[in-house]
Amino acid sequence: MHFRTISTPPGGVFILFTLLLWMGCGSIEPEGPLDEDGDPIPMPGAFDDWLRITEISPGDEIGLRPTMEVEFNAYLDPDTFGSTAIQLRSGGFGYGGRTDYYMTRRTLRFRPNSSLEPDLTYTLRIAGADGIRSVTDSPISPATVLPELRSRDDIADSEPLERPIVTWAEVEEIFVAHCNDCHGESSRNLHPLISLDRDRLVGQRSEQVDALLIHPFQPARSYLMHKILPDYPVRRFTVQPPPWSGQDPLSTEDIERIEHWIANGARR
Ligand code: HEC
Repeated sequence: MHFRTISTPPGGVFILFTLLLWMGCGSIEPEGPLDEDGDPIPMPGAFDDWLRITEISPGDEIGLRPTMEVEFNAYLDPDTFGSTAIQLRSGGFGYGGRTDYYMTRRTLRFRPNSSLEPDLTYTLRIAGADGIRSVTDSPISPATVLPELRSRDDIADSEPLERPIVTWAEVEEIFVAHCNDCHGESSRNLHPLISLDRDRLVGQRSEQVDALLIHPFQPARSYLMHKILPDYPVRRFTVQPPPWSGQDPLSTEDIERIEHWIANGARR
């Protein structure tokens, strides 16, 4: 039978051949898309999504001292934007202000430093929008269009961009209820090296990653936050309290309270 003239190679050779073929394919680097200058366009990782804006408020119409909120689909890398990340622009004139990253809500909050002019059209700009990235290094979607907003003097000014004051006593209450079975002084000592006591916690480095557990004024750089946000994508081991512990998970309000406490300096 002539179709048998090519004899099947012995199994070992066949596997080796397949392996070489597979390794050969792996070494061909897929070319990413390039922009018109021939520079590579930044893309999200293979298993990741673009960084996207999921909501901007208020939409369409704003007061003369508005607080804008820009919510993202992912946590932001604090190394890729600053406290002046957002601007409102009109007719070539930029209104700067303060930007604060509300990590638990994945939201940048912005309030201009001075009053806007009434009845003008403003565009919201994120400074270096091509630089801002998620913590998994995804760039902002190229389809992002920032809205145009109309200023009106009959819309009330918003409150200054200040976070609620949360005291250590309030944070300690959360830790006592959800954490200190394992992390407290007289605990079952499941993890005795991490004591959730204010004076021992602040300044302490993580054993798991190269970061501070609490970075005063910087929740986004505090590893404790990375461990308590249920869907935070970059951390070692599990969310806290561990799902296997039977402990009630933290509510979003509790997580945000801890965030505010850190953002206000993690004071006693
Ligand atoms: C059932 C016991 C248990 C409870 C309850 C618990 N933890 Fe933990 N915690 C552990 C263990 C075990 C580890 C090490 C393994 C891991 O990270 O998952 C750990 C690790 C940590 C780490 C990382 C320490 C480092 O060196 O990086 C932090 C931060 C932390 N816990 C905070 C908390 C907070 C905050 C709570 C309450 C909201 C909490 N834990 C509740 C047992 C517990």
